[in-house]
Amino acid sequence: MKSNSTQDVTLNPEKLPFHLAIIMDGNGRWAKKRLMNRVKGHEQGSQTVRSIVTAARELGIGVLTLYAFSTENWARPKLEVKALMMLLKKFIISEREKLSKNHIRLNIIGQKHRLPPDVQKEIDITMALTKNNDKMVLNLALSYGSREEITNAVKQIVQKIESKDLNPEDISQDLISNHLYTKAIPDPDLIIRTSGEYRLSNFLLWQAAYSEIYITDTLWPDFSKDEFIEILNNFQNRDRRFGKVSCSISKDG
Ligand code: IPE
Ligand code: IPE
Ligand code: MG
Repeated sequence: MKSNSTQDVTLNPEKLPFHLAIIMDGNGRWAKKRLMNRVKGHEQGSQTVRSIVTAARELGIGVLTLYAFSTENWARPKLEVKALMMLLKKFIISEREKLSKNHIRLNIIGQKHRLPPDVQKEIDITMALTKNNDKMVLNLALSYGSREEITNAVKQIVQKIESKDLNPEDISQDLISNHLYTKAIPDPDLIIRTSGEYRLSNFLLWQAAYSEIYITDTLWPDFSKDEFIEILNNFQNRDRRFGKVSCSISKDG
């Protein structure tokens, strides 16, 4: 008897989320359950990142945004922050060739300038190497906070008004979107959060206006390709109404 349910799942390539964002949470609890240091959880979590990036590319996702480090995460113990930065650097270096080969472009959203200079340097190299890739964007949210992003956008807009490059009446939703870190990227269709927390934790607050949300209890290091496919299947069966009435109702009536 077949035990793997995802073998039965057929995804409709036409109905995949173009932009998929993931709040990768639960590394610390994964380690704690095993009486290990939190850093071990982050190490295991970075393996999950590798497998999910590969799966997303294979499935045909357009943009994969991964929330890897928030503006609030700087307040964690120094050693944990250091370990996370080291893992990030390792990831950026080790995945460089694979991203290239698989036509994936690396992009960063967040306060890149706050990252350690050596990490920034490796990011710049990988971004330059992958800049013409067009099969998928791997969008890493690093030192990212939605409120900081919006504050930053407001500052830029005010400066443009002061320098007379912009009239206040030109301020529109599109203009605001175009001053966010995500300016070149459509809003996320689906946001997944692992580890069973029912909150956004300062992630894509503006962009998530009409995103579908899926929360799983699975801790990020345990998150698998099978579960990923199940979630995409769940997404494909949702009725995204955007405030209107459902498509089937409007067609019938
Ligand atoms: C997510 O796992 C990784 C980061 C936020 C950097 P956590 O480290 O938040 O894990 P928990 O929530 O403590 O289990
Ligand atoms: C959200 O996880 C940030 C990332 C996944 C990078 P946190 O663990 O920092 O969020 P809270 O503290 O549980 O809200
Ligand atoms: Mg957490």
